[in-house]
Amino acid sequence: MSTDQNKFQAIISHCKEYGFVFQSSEIYDGLSAVYDYGQYGAELKKNIKDYWWKSMTQLHENIVGIDAAIFMHPTTWKASGHVDNFSDPMIDNRDSNKRYRVDHLIEGHAETLPEAAGNALLAQMDELLKENDFAGLKSLIEENKIKCSVSGTVNWTEVRQFNLMFSTQLGSVTEEASEIFLRPETAQGIFVNFLNVQKTGRMKVPFGIAQIGKAFRNEIVARQFIFRMREFEQMEMQFFVRPGTQQEWYEKWKEERMQWHLSLGTDPAKYHFKDHIKLAHYADAAVDIEYEFPFGFKEVEGIHSRTDFDLKQHQEYSKKKIQYFDTEINQNYVPYVIETSIGLDRMFLLTICNAYEEQDLSTPEKQDSRVVLKLPAKLAPVKLAVFPLTKKDGLPEAAKILIDECKKFFHCYYEEKDSIGKRYRRQDAIGTPFCVTIDHQTKEDGTVTIRHRDSMEQERVPLSEVRNIVLNKIM
Ligand code: GAP
Repeated sequence: MSTDQNKFQAIISHCKEYGFVFQSSEIYDGLSAVYDYGQYGAELKKNIKDYWWKSMTQLHENIVGIDAAIFMHPTTWKASGHVDNFSDPMIDNRDSNKRYRVDHLIEGHAETLPEAAGNALLAQMDELLKENDFAGLKSLIEENKIKCSVSGTVNWTEVRQFNLMFSTQLGSVTEEASEIFLRPETAQGIFVNFLNVQKTGRMKVPFGIAQIGKAFRNEIVARQFIFRMREFEQMEMQFFVRPGTQQEWYEKWKEERMQWHLSLGTDPAKYHFKDHIKLAHYADAAVDIEYEFPFGFKEVEGIHSRTDFDLKQHQEYSKKKIQYFDTEINQNYVPYVIETSIGLDRMFLLTICNAYEEQDLSTPEKQDSRVVLKLPAKLAPVKLAVFPLTKKDGLPEAAKILIDECKKFFHCYYEEKDSIGKRYRRQDAIGTPFCVTIDHQTKEDGTVTIRHRDSMEQERVPLSEVRNIVLNKIM
């Protein structure tokens, strides 16, 4: 195993050990590609959501947020093209009955080849995918003698399309019930509410509608922990623009979204743009923002120029006029759409991978090490940990007064067990940016020791300043 793979395994274990992410229904041996967020994971995830929501809505006067239902009228998915097009080419191995997404199977094999050969194989695959050439994809798998990881054979079926939407029944009696889908993207909830929001909010083009919510996809090959899940969350924003201006807005949102990522302090070398080779059925341009995970550069967010496809489709299927009257040019039109779509769980994984560090702190006298999550302070689950040096002499009471003063503003944690050093290590492991120790001097001169997570430096500051020191870092 490579060092990066070791690191990724260590991150997965860390997420479990410190209450960030658990396998769903673990006591029943888990449910594949479904995960639960634990006590610190839920806080971190919520902080990422809030950071996105605030940057989209509060900081843009022409973007508003909605919260649409997961269940939608079944015609929605006919209109959007998901019933006919939301599928991936799959291939089954006849000996193991294991099903693979064709691109994942070929990509997995490419990773085992020398770089030039791997890239050549991926280039061939991209061409065939673009042409929807399923016979060609099967030949490529056969020519390269790509084996099933379970049976070890090359006994493959034809390549077929497989729809990724989950369906369920709406209604109590089977005969009366109708089939509906769990939404595979949140975007359609925005499109079908375009007129509602535009009219009630008196919105003027260009304007955006943002939303955070669950989406579901029956991913065949679920890999890499929470990178590819069957139930996940998206943070999407549809920006409605005048036809003909979409290219300009596409470039603007590309840039703005990259700046959002970099505003969290990540090394820019860890990010790049990757243009889509095969465009989705609704797009005239599309790019991914990719981050360098321990398993390579992978997509975190997509920026798509979706044309007027979705609104026009809903207009046709609903037989309701979905148009905007632009008073500046005295014209009615169906707006074009630029979409920014980021996976919340992927952003969570990125944040943890980017923050995770194993540090050797050994000195000639003593072996020492720590695992620290260098999370951006505004995203950290706990902002301030407060430790009384001892359990007596009124120190716990003083610590609790500080917590009472701060907890209305940010998340605090109180701990009196074990040595201060051990308490620091536990907070490092969950990414707490500040730890404060209350000692006997505190009672004499009203000062405390504040310890900074990344530098491990400690300084003496007035107790009365602690709240503002933390607030300055997290606002
Ligand atoms: N509305 C457009 C759309 O859904 P997408 O590229 O299919 O586009 C957008 O998905 C984002 O959603 C991706 O960039 C990724 O971050 C996230 N995503 C997609 N499938 C996912 C999955 N199975 N598990 C976790 N995140 C996923």
